[in-house]
Amino acid sequence: MTSVGIDDISIYSPGFFYSLEDLARRHGVDPAKYLYGIGQEQMAVPSPDEDIVTMAANAVAPVLTDDVRERISTVIFATESGVDQSKSAGMFVHGVLGLNPNCRVVEFKQACYSATAGLQFACDLVRHRPGEKVLVIAADIARYERNSEGECTQGAGAVAMVIARNPSLVEIHPQSGLFSLDVMDFWRPNHRDAAYVDGKLSIDVYLRSLRESYADFCRKDGMPLAAIEKLCFHQPFTKMSKKAFAALREAAGADAEHLDETSYAESQVYGRQIGNTYAASLYIALTSLLDNCAEDLGGRNIGLFSYGSGSVGEFFAATVRKGYRRGLRTRAHRALLAGRREIDYSTYVAWFYNSAKSAEDRVCPEETAGRYRLAAIEAQRRVYAAARNLELNVAAWR
Ligand code: HMG
Repeated sequence: MTSVGIDDISIYSPGFFYSLEDLARRHGVDPAKYLYGIGQEQMAVPSPDEDIVTMAANAVAPVLTDDVRERISTVIFATESGVDQSKSAGMFVHGVLGLNPNCRVVEFKQACYSATAGLQFACDLVRHRPGEKVLVIAADIARYERNSEGECTQGAGAVAMVIARNPSLVEIHPQSGLFSLDVMDFWRPNHRDAAYVDGKLSIDVYLRSLRESYADFCRKDGMPLAAIEKLCFHQPFTKMSKKAFAALREAAGADAEHLDETSYAESQVYGRQIGNTYAASLYIALTSLLDNCAEDLGGRNIGLFSYGSGSVGEFFAATVRKGYRRGLRTRAHRALLAGRREIDYSTYVAWFYNSAKSAEDRVCPEETAGRYRLAAIEAQRRVYAAARNLELNVAAWR
């Protein structure tokens, strides 16, 4: 069968972060709880002129070679931070980046899971029409109530993946284990900026979903765990990967004996500095693993678990392609994170909470460190523009 999977992957996260050590002090909590108990050091904070569209455009821009521009048949945008109830966020990205008009554009939603649905549908499209490429984008702003238990897991970011045959980076195997359960562990009604969450229940359902998805994967003769050397879990905060690994090891017994905490350690590097990015989180973890693993992973297998509250889980397997390192964007990703500016508590509160979902027309002052920005809302129309520092940023990221 034709090999299909991720041919290119690029991540973006805002150029500003807030320290969790400072948040802990503000909350009167021992900083060790956030740094080690939750496993987060920083949260990425979008400026008021950034949203899922600008973050996505920033992630997509580097992967737009002439060949990709010409062959994209479909753009799938996975998010739970939609900016419009009708028009897909991908349509705005299509406009901002001037994508090929002869393609379909659609938005997917199921909490943090939707990017995996996008990836799997994209792989099947390419298996049927091998000449086409599909652009899968995931972008989210993870926002909880101020002073709530979830606040320390907040973050923002985007990932763009080009799905193609004979991929340069990672082959995705078609067999997956699936598990869906209608449950209220985390949800956000249309009128709300911040999610409601039952934190403890969400952890229990995540772990049940992992066990059930893995059992389904085994029933369907998915790749044996004995053949898998690395793991990537949906990562709302890095401690969750540790909990997921313990649950998988218990479920798999002797089949998981060769795996330990080093099997997923590199997948946590970026997430620890960015925070939760909902739909993008698993694929930022995958990028983190590929970028930061010192061993050559070419020819080796990865087990991935995707979870979206509400809830859907999927366990699937991928094989890293030989020579994958030539296709990575490690330098750009590291430069992006290293170049971020720390903001203080009052800026964090003003940007993360006060500028959330204003319905008013407005002009947005330029703050972003990215290439694209929300310039204004005029007559209820979102107006996007290239940032003033576009040339500067392009030079810095290459
Ligand atoms: P909490 O109740 O404040 O935390 O909120 P806790 O009391 O459970 O403590 C957390 C950990 O810190 C514990 O470790 C403590 O022992 C440890 P654990 O037992 O879990 O290993 N701790 C310390 N460690 C070192 N030094 C100390 C110290 N004090 C305590 N001094 C909770 C935690 C995750 C519930 C909260 O942050 C929350 O509600 N988060 C949001 C929900 C969430 O992320 N759920 C994850 C699963 S659901 C999911 O992933 C889907 C999601 O991404 C959404 C989507 O699908 O769209 C969220």
